[in-house]
Amino acid sequence: MTDPVSDWHRLADSHVLLDGFHALKHAVRFGAEVPVALAADRQAALALADDLAPDVRDTLDALLTEVPETTYAALVPRPHPTGVAALAVRPSRAARLARLAHTPRTAPVVVLDNPRNLGNAGAVIRLAAGFGVTGVVTTGTLDPWHPTVVRGGAGLHFATAVERLAVFDLPAGPVFALDPEGEDLRGVELPDDALLAFGSERTGLSADLRARADHLLSLPMRPQVSSYNLATSVAMTLYHWSMTGGRRSVL
Ligand SMILES: C[S@@+](CC[C@H](N)C(=O)[O-])C[C@H]1O[C@@H](n2cnc3c(N)ncnc32)[C@H](O)[C@@H]1O
Repeated sequence: MTDPVSDWHRLADSHVLLDGFHALKHAVRFGAEVPVALAADRQAALALADDLAPDVRDTLDALLTEVPETTYAALVPRPHPTGVAALAVRPSRAARLARLAHTPRTAPVVVLDNPRNLGNAGAVIRLAAGFGVTGVVTTGTLDPWHPTVVRGGAGLHFATAVERLAVFDLPAGPVFALDPEGEDLRGVELPDDALLAFGSERTGLSADLRARADHLLSLPMRPQVSSYNLATSVAMTLYHWSMTGGRRSVL
């Protein structure tokens, strides 16, 4: 039998950290391969599973190994209140690209153009999973698989295709770019094959993204306010998609 702590040390650099019970629950639910999962209190973790995730309770029972609290705390950047941590295999880039390129697309792709804030990126991935969108593509230097983004995304990177691409490599489909100067979103039906693009927190949409955009849309906002938060803008736009042309079967 292999020692799970040695496994952890061997795999930590190449695998995705699932920080806390909820991240592990989501990742398992959406098919992640989890070679090692640790709990400081295994019974407490399984009690959470009984309460919150009976659908994956047996899987978690088979995966979780109890380790001393101090061992757990030494393995993670900051201990999570649930005392659970796991490592998951990152889906291959080829698989993620195939998912993004698959047509006909039944739900939009969200494009974050050069996002700067890891928390925003995580919140957007969580939204994307909730709305059942095809994927989240980032442009620029931020790594959408950074541990802080995965933490913000609550393990839901496995429920959608998360990839970093250059603007000129974006998947096919009409680009609806969100910008306060655009046409009012409320009069527009967003198609399922849309790419919904959002600008950087600091500088908005890049020139390359604007050049690729087919439509520029604005969210309702009174004139004295400059802009909304990035993740909030994605939430409003996906809600609008779900209420207009959006596929409702996942919701
Ligand atoms: C924090 S805002 C960017 C603000 C930035 N200073 C600018 O010059 O646009 C981040 C992104 O959220 C979206 N956004 C924010 N408020 C919006 C609004 N009222 N209408 C459309 N998009 C909006 C846009 O995609 C924007 O690029």
